[in-house]
Amino acid sequence: MLTPLIAGNWKMNTGVHQGAELVIKLRELIKGVDTADVVIAPPFTSIYHLSHLIADSTIQLAGQNLHWEKSGAYTGEVSAEMLLDAGCRYVIIGHSERRTYFHETGDVVNKKLVAAIRAGLRPIVCVGETLKEREAKKTLSVVSTQLKGALAGLSGGGLKDITVAYEPIWAIGTGAVAAPQDAEEVHNALRELLYETLGAEAARPIRIIYGGSVKADNIDSLMSQPNIDGALVGGASLKAEEFARIVRFR
Ligand code: 13P
Repeated sequence: MLTPLIAGNWKMNTGVHQGAELVIKLRELIKGVDTADVVIAPPFTSIYHLSHLIADSTIQLAGQNLHWEKSGAYTGEVSAEMLLDAGCRYVIIGHSERRTYFHETGDVVNKKLVAAIRAGLRPIVCVGETLKEREAKKTLSVVSTQLKGALAGLSGGGLKDITVAYEPIWAIGTGAVAAPQDAEEVHNALRELLYETLGAEAARPIRIIYGGSVKADNIDSLMSQPNIDGALVGGASLKAEEFARIVRFR
């Protein structure tokens, strides 16, 4: 059994003070809770400040994105090394909002994944299909292509630190959560693909988490599925009580 991972993706929400208030509340609410590894991904502007506030807690920080170069003339970008330096242990890569609004291709996702592993960050790699693709019964082929593209050319020790997040695009921010059995089917297929592509030893420690309208009232049924190893939570992670309840899933 893998230790579950519950991650909150704050997206482009919260200023420094608001983020601090949220973390201070969350820190108290989940004190002593050991159901899962807990990660939050605030905006870049809050990371360093929050790194001090989480110092005595089990909460860890993630970047929401990164650039694959270490440093240089890339105005507006942040590298894996900078995220680590600011206090992150994790980074989200290839979120559907980045693929859709910022035109991130499979090749870009792959470069970011390589850079994260090189720096020692734990990548959370997102895959997921659109509603049109789901209706055309293309879910498994779409997510498999995305995952293979992300992992292209990778091998070695850093792979064990990867988490895969299955986030069906039609479920993100819509309140339309995937049925636990439907999500399980996709997770199972992704797990098989990881074993085939990377071999059992590398694939075994990789967590596959679900994202898309995860809330306090649906987390328990999602987590009861054998191949769902946690959740990537958007909107509900901005409410301390609700996110704490998600972390304490049963
Ligand atoms: P919601 O939980 O708001 O649907 O967002 C999911 C998501 O995109 C997390 O990365």
